[in-house]
Amino acid sequence: MTVFIDRMIPQIGLDLLNEAGITYEQHIDRRELSTQELIDRCSKHNALITAGWGPINSEFIAACKHLKIISLHSVGYDRVDIKAATKWGIPVGNTPDVLSEATADTAFLLMLAVSRKALYLHKKIIKGEWGFSQPIDDLGFSLQGKTLGIFGLGNIGCELAKKAKAAFNMPIIYHNRSHNKEAERNLGAKRVSFDDLVSQSDVLVAFSSLTPETKNKFNRDVFRKMKPSAIFINPSRGGVHNEPDLIEALQQGIIWGAGLDVTNPEPMQADNPLLNMPNVAVFPHIGSNTVEARNGMASIAAKNVIAAFQGRPLLHIVNP
Ligand code: DGY
Repeated sequence: MTVFIDRMIPQIGLDLLNEAGITYEQHIDRRELSTQELIDRCSKHNALITAGWGPINSEFIAACKHLKIISLHSVGYDRVDIKAATKWGIPVGNTPDVLSEATADTAFLLMLAVSRKALYLHKKIIKGEWGFSQPIDDLGFSLQGKTLGIFGLGNIGCELAKKAKAAFNMPIIYHNRSHNKEAERNLGAKRVSFDDLVSQSDVLVAFSSLTPETKNKFNRDVFRKMKPSAIFINPSRGGVHNEPDLIEALQQGIIWGAGLDVTNPEPMQADNPLLNMPNVAVFPHIGSNTVEARNGMASIAAKNVIAAFQGRPLLHIVNP
């Protein structure tokens, strides 16, 4: 049984494979493989551990006849055709929980960076523009007591809610299909309609996965229903917001600011107008970029492969 790994993952994952007597081939070049290259490299192997960006589509799944598992080195699985994998009897594993705290921290960082114009002011110093300033220049706003609205309150959202409550005593509202009883009990989170979430939030965070229902969910109509003083934060997937609509909303002062860890497309081009706006912070999809989270992810990704090879249930599976 052998594994193809399409990125360099932390050593802990490789050690687990070695200990289980599983050999692997790893793509270490700093470039994304095309679907055809992925097929060519993976078709003789029995598992794929993937931390790449490209689609894992039906063409790939049908071509890799020896595949026993697709093991994602991520919590998100929107890049995988789950229907096709299920049809071909291939389990798809992912790595939830271990990255919740790191991703929530990234959202927290975005909230603060936007509300205090941190990246814009940092850029001003680099440009030699730290000069005379008036007490009314470059003002941000305090997050203390402001309402945090979360679209898609799961593990990551709860981590953020906990931090926001502890640090700034932010009341939490959320919109989910069903109640998150634990968050309601422990954090006093209040479930509201989508429209109320949008119109009542001072900081509106999109934590939903990318699905046909959530694609472009945050668009011109939604931004127009937000408070003009509000911030939109997206640490989930770039496709959840409509980027031209977001640019328009910021340029026209329809919303106050935005913080993005994900963009559409990725990577964002250097000439994107969002990068020059004072009230915007953009990170290059670094939600889970901590040693702790990445070690956890590599470990689960490897354990999912070992479990599949040994005929045991995966630690985390996304097929229905
Ligand atoms: C995830 O785990 O889904 C992160 O966004 C990294 O892709």
